[in-house]
Amino acid sequence: MNTMNTHHFLTPCFFLLLSFHALTSSATTAEQEGTSDFVRPIDRKLLGLHKKEKLSHFKFYWHDILSGRSPTSVPIVPPAYKNSTTFFGAISMIDNPLTLGPSLSSKLVGRAQGFYGSASQSELSALMAMNFAFIEGKYNGSTITILGRNPVFNKVREMPVIGGSGLFRFARGYAEARTNWFDLKSGDAVVEYNVYVFHY
Ligand SMILES: *[C@@H]1O[C@H](CO)[C@@H](O)[C@H](O)[C@H]1NC(C)=O
Ligand SMILES: *[C@@H]1O[C@H](CO)[C@@H](O)[C@H](O)[C@H]1NC(C)=O
Repeated sequence: MNTMNTHHFLTPCFFLLLSFHALTSSATTAEQEGTSDFVRPIDRKLLGLHKKEKLSHFKFYWHDILSGRSPTSVPIVPPAYKNSTTFFGAISMIDNPLTLGPSLSSKLVGRAQGFYGSASQSELSALMAMNFAFIEGKYNGSTITILGRNPVFNKVREMPVIGGSGLFRFARGYAEARTNWFDLKSGDAVVEYNVYVFHY
């Protein structure tokens, strides 16, 4: 009776110890080889990255529409101080049309979705965080992500391309923004964007 009990007790312990040993030894081997379930090196061919990286220049116009019945740029956070001359702290959410030409009626190639916020206490300068979501040709469904500083009254503002999706996986580059048209009264603006991007 006594031996039986000891036996029943020891058996699961033995298997626990065995499997624990198996786990630790396989983890050690994986670490030594630099592989594990969490992370492992893979061949770049598996992601189609063995092809030569391309450099492309995209040009389009960004329409910031604040006025009218269907604005595409909507204030979501008021400035931090009522007396701030730079609207510091104000944030607007955008879903701005991107068109081939400066006219809103020209061909729609995508939308700029994201937000911009007033990020300077001494000048009018925005933090831009947006995705260019394209609908044109083979780029339909692919996106380019911009995160950068936009001192809006400078002639040319440069903002980094920090990544992308679809045809823009592993993208990097920069965008140049130039104001094409600005209405001081409504705040509506058309901005020319030239985007230089490395992608596969
Ligand atoms: C703005 O108002 C705040 C208080 O709300 C005050 O502390 C600050 O000095 C004011 N700034 C200017 C530039 O008037
Ligand atoms: C883009 O792709 C979507 C979804 O696949 C499709 O519904 C739409 O018609 C396409 N647009 C253009 C302009 O090809």
